[in-house]
Amino acid sequence: MQESIWNRTASLRPREPLSGDRKVDAAVIGGGLAGILTAHFLRAAGLETVVLEAARAGSGQTGRTTAKITAQHGLIYERLIDQLGREKAVLYAQANQWAVAEYRRMVREGGIDCDFTDCPAYLYATGDPWPIHREAEAAHSLGIDAACTADTELPFPVAAALRFGNQARFHPLRFLDAVAEPLELYEQTRVRDVEGNRVITDRGTVTAEHVVFACHYPFRNVPGYYFLRMHQERSYVLALENAAGLEGMYFGTDGDGLSFRPQGDLLLLGGGGHRTGENSAGGQYQKLRQAARSFWPESREMAAWSAQDGMPLDGVPYIGRFSATTPNWYVATGFQKWGMTSSMVAARLLTDLITTGASPWEEVFTPQRFQPPAAGKALLQESAQAAKGLGRRLFTPPRAEVEALPRGHGGVVEYRGEKLGVYKDDGGEGFCVSVRCPHLGCQLEWNPDEKSWDCPCHGSRFDYRGRLLDGPAQRDADVPE
Ligand code: FES
Repeated sequence: MQESIWNRTASLRPREPLSGDRKVDAAVIGGGLAGILTAHFLRAAGLETVVLEAARAGSGQTGRTTAKITAQHGLIYERLIDQLGREKAVLYAQANQWAVAEYRRMVREGGIDCDFTDCPAYLYATGDPWPIHREAEAAHSLGIDAACTADTELPFPVAAALRFGNQARFHPLRFLDAVAEPLELYEQTRVRDVEGNRVITDRGTVTAEHVVFACHYPFRNVPGYYFLRMHQERSYVLALENAAGLEGMYFGTDGDGLSFRPQGDLLLLGGGGHRTGENSAGGQYQKLRQAARSFWPESREMAAWSAQDGMPLDGVPYIGRFSATTPNWYVATGFQKWGMTSSMVAARLLTDLITTGASPWEEVFTPQRFQPPAAGKALLQESAQAAKGLGRRLFTPPRAEVEALPRGHGGVVEYRGEKLGVYKDDGGEGFCVSVRCPHLGCQLEWNPDEKSWDCPCHGSRFDYRGRLLDGPAQRDADVPE
């Protein structure tokens, strides 16, 4: 797996696994930014809190983000006003603007050394400028410092750009490490199940009055049914040396728009998004490399990595009570590409729910919301997509024979009536996995950009040996005898 510049330039202090049983006020599942910030606020409110992390803190999406701290979440505010109404759109904007300010406050007051830098954030379009103009009007009407311009630092002309002032960027793992320092955090402690107040791990049990699922994608299928209302998408990043020295952060709203974000002497160039499990042709890094060559022929690639995002049905994260039948469970998921402010919003919202029973932002983010026109249609599409994956498990003919596979390639083959995923490494050695996803049984697809087996239904991923990379699956793929 590729290493991000964040992983390369931070060394988080390791923590021991859980050992035996604990009884606490709150258990937070997941040691990423959302989990660590939630535990931070709960602890500050006087609750004895533990964090349970399956691998290392920050080893999930927090280490793969582009770390833009911004309330600018693509073309969102015009849509929120249309779909949810102005009142909820105002709350969404206020929550995320508060999150930017809260990062700034925590970094300054805590003296956290994490490259925190104030900077503007831009949306840009090279085609139709009108969505940008309408978004500017919507954002401005919600009280956001938003202004249109056609003047940017980008190496190509834009039709329109929308500037949000007073946004920020930082080093997410250095920030995480500082915030996690006083917390009771257990690493290498995978949660296997939650039964009422008991969180069952492979290292012991935690009994907690409140349980927070902050593990990117909830691994419990029932209740909550998050697998029916969220898919996952992947996107790719290059860190370039000798490219442009930008001040702002940029996000393209055209179909194949690119993302730009400076970090010290480097420029992070992002793009190439697709639904997880739908990249069998590959070439995502290649597209970014071509763009880098055409914009800055002298640039050098210093790192390349990818990230995975949970995509909710109506474009608003699910933050709040886990389900109607589990009063002491809470969830934070579906942050799309905007995990920094969403993590901060989730931490505040969940802490308020746990300590006071209410949050002013609850009605916007509640996972129990019901939006028939938007959610109903998307739910059908989501189910159709899941069914497509299940269908493929039975009917798609094998696409490659083992012996025909070139070195360095993977594909699905049929062997003694069973479908197998086969990868042949550069030395000619073959590796086989079952392509039946251990989550709910969809057929895994080969992702040549990352040499991984990815599930198109809900986004679980496995390396070429079948080892679990991303949930909601909780175990490795089967490996045939
Ligand atoms: Fe749900 Fe694969 S992730 S079936």
